[in-house]
Amino acid sequence: MGSGKGKNLKLTLKVWRQESAADSGKFESYDLDNVSTDMSFLEMMDVLNEKLVLEAKDPIEFDHDCREGICGMCSMVINGNAHGPERATTTCQLHMRRFKDGDTITIEPFRAKAFPVVKDLVVDRGAFDRVVQAGGYISINTGNAQDANNIPISKVDADEAFNAATCIGCGACVAACPNASASLFTAAKISQFALLPQGQPERVERALNMVGQMDKEGFGGCTNIGACSRACPKEISLENIARMNSEYLCSTVKTKS
Ligand code: SF4
Ligand code: FES
Repeated sequence: MGSGKGKNLKLTLKVWRQESAADSGKFESYDLDNVSTDMSFLEMMDVLNEKLVLEAKDPIEFDHDCREGICGMCSMVINGNAHGPERATTTCQLHMRRFKDGDTITIEPFRAKAFPVVKDLVVDRGAFDRVVQAGGYISINTGNAQDANNIPISKVDADEAFNAATCIGCGACVAACPNASASLFTAAKISQFALLPQGQPERVERALNMVGQMDKEGFGGCTNIGACSRACPKEISLENIARMNSEYLCSTVKTKS
């Protein structure tokens, strides 16, 4: 029987270093020994940073928060894949057992004009916040809690709305898309309300304003490639983009008539 302990890896890490948005940036190589296969990818980055600090070098900046796949903060392109090689997995939930001894791992920031590099692997995803802000408020009745049976919602709609609402706003869809389109993210945010009765009062303005803001932020257009959904750690489906397009078109017609 095995001891249950992981193995140790020796790795070469090619990491993107960039002082600021104004700097052109470049790859730096680092050798790291004794990386346990039980570590998460971010724990491995912590170990690399401890080594850099001990060598009086500048540690690598990267975003993270929950480290359990729910906050959407972690954001690395690992060996060319947004969030790394594991499907439906955020960078923080990726483990070093996915790699082999002697591997060279390339680590870059999410690249998109609308996500300027702040430093190293940290990008400014404020454009997503502004798209959500453009969606505005949801009208709610602030009286007593209603009986749940007062608002019947079909199981299909409830499931689709719930699935859309699992988007964590990480931006991997943008990073994976050759057009740097934010369609999957915006579509998820529009869908989660458009499918539910509570989302009806502002439905028309919400679709127009969120799509308008997405375009203003400089994201590219969607050409149905599907790389966004494949990279998405929450497996948000492309059907949401079809729904967003239909919501946008209907809202345009309604405001003109
Ligand atoms: S749609 Fe998926 S990849 Fe895009 S922001 Fe949401 S969770 Fe991240
Ligand atoms: S750190 Fe929160 S999702 Fe990765």
